[in-house]
Amino acid sequence: MSAFKPLVFSGVQPTGNLHLGNYLGAIRKFVALQDTSDCIYCVVDMHAITMWQDPAELEQSTREVTAAFLAAGIDPAKHIVFNQSRVMQHAELAWVFNCVARMGWLNRMTQFKDKAGKDRENASVGLFAYPTLMAADILVYRATHVPVGDDQKQHLELTRDIAQKFNNDFSSRIEALGCGVEMKVGEETVHGFFPLTEPIIEGPATRIMSLRDGTKKMSKSDPSDLSRINLTDDADTISKKIRKAKTDPAPLPSEPEGLKERPEADNLVGIYASLAEIAREEVLRQFGGQQFSVFKPALADLAVEKLAPIAGEMRRISADRGYIDGVLRDGGMRAGALAETTMKDVRRIIGLLGD
Ligand code: AMP
Ligand code: TRP
Repeated sequence: MSAFKPLVFSGVQPTGNLHLGNYLGAIRKFVALQDTSDCIYCVVDMHAITMWQDPAELEQSTREVTAAFLAAGIDPAKHIVFNQSRVMQHAELAWVFNCVARMGWLNRMTQFKDKAGKDRENASVGLFAYPTLMAADILVYRATHVPVGDDQKQHLELTRDIAQKFNNDFSSRIEALGCGVEMKVGEETVHGFFPLTEPIIEGPATRIMSLRDGTKKMSKSDPSDLSRINLTDDADTISKKIRKAKTDPAPLPSEPEGLKERPEADNLVGIYASLAEIAREEVLRQFGGQQFSVFKPALADLAVEKLAPIAGEMRRISADRGYIDGVLRDGGMRAGALAETTMKDVRRIIGLLGD
C-alpha cells in the first residue's frame, strides 16, 4: 500500500455555547473541506466529561453542536457526523496511546495547565490524558488532515509524536503483518501504520479574541456573555455585543502594521475580514481613517447577515430531536465500522489476542 488516502477529521466539545470563534476557527472550515475530501466530524462528549458536566445539559449540548454542524452546511449523508462515545474504539485506542505517550510529553501541554488552574491535584486524570484521547479520535480513522483553531496546535504536534513513536516501536511487526503505508517525512520516505497528521490552521480567524479583552481568547467558559457572540444570538444581541465591544479611541489605521499593540482593534478587523472572506488589508482599505462609530455598525450588519441564517436553521433543526438522534446513530454506525478496521490491525500489531 502506498500513501494514505486524504481524510479530514475534527471534533468540537459539547460544553456550552458555541461561539463565533468556534464557527470561524473551525466549523466554517469543516463545511468548506467537504467539497474536496471525505470528512468525519465528531461531537466529543467523552472529552467534555474531563470536567464536570451536568448529564442533562451534556445531552442537550451534544444535540446542539450537532444542530450547529448541520445548520452550517455539513452534509451527514455524504460525510460522517456522530458523537464520540458511540464508537468505543476511540477509548480503546486512547488506552493504547496512554501506554505509548510519555508523562513528560503530557506534562508540557498548556491546555491542561490552563484548565486545571492552581488546584492541579484535584484535576481529573481524564483531563491530564485528554490529548491521548484526541490523538485516538484522529488516528482511529488514520485521518490525514485536521482543521482546528490555533489553540489546538500543541495537541496536534503530540498526535504526530504518538503516531511516530507507535510506528517506530512496532516497525518490524507492522512490516511483517504488511499493514503499513509508505509516507514522506520531510525528504525521507518511511513506512508506518499511522499517518503523521497535518493540522489545517490558516486564515485571519485562527484565534478570535474576547470582545471584552483583546488579549484573551473568545471562549465558551468566559463568565461574561458580552465577551462572545454565540451562534444562537439573535440580531439585536449580536449588534449590542459589537456596539459594546472594547476598543481604543483612535481611528482605524490604513495598514495592518497600525494594528500592532491594538489587540481589540486587531480582533474586530480580523473578524470582519474573516466574515467577509477578504484580507485584513482590504478591510483597512475600506475603513482606514474611520472611527469605530462607523466601523462597528458595518461589522454588526455583516455579522448578522452571516450568522442569523445559521441561528435560524439551528432552531429549526433543534426542534426535531428525532432527526438529530438519527444522524448521530447512523454516523456512529458508519464511523464504528471504519474504526474497527483500524483496531483489528492495532490489536494484531501490539499482540493483543482477539478473533
Ligand atoms: P472547543 O469548543 O474547545 O471544542 O473548540 C472547537 C474548535 O473551535 C477547535 O478547533 C478550536 O480550536 C476552535 N476554537 C475555539 N475557540 C476559538 C477561538 N477563540 N478562535 C478560533 N478558534 C477557536
Ligand atoms: N480538543 C479539541 C478542542 O478543545 C476538541 C477535539 C477533540 C478535537 N478531539 C479532536 C479536535 C480531534 C480535532 C481533532 O477544541
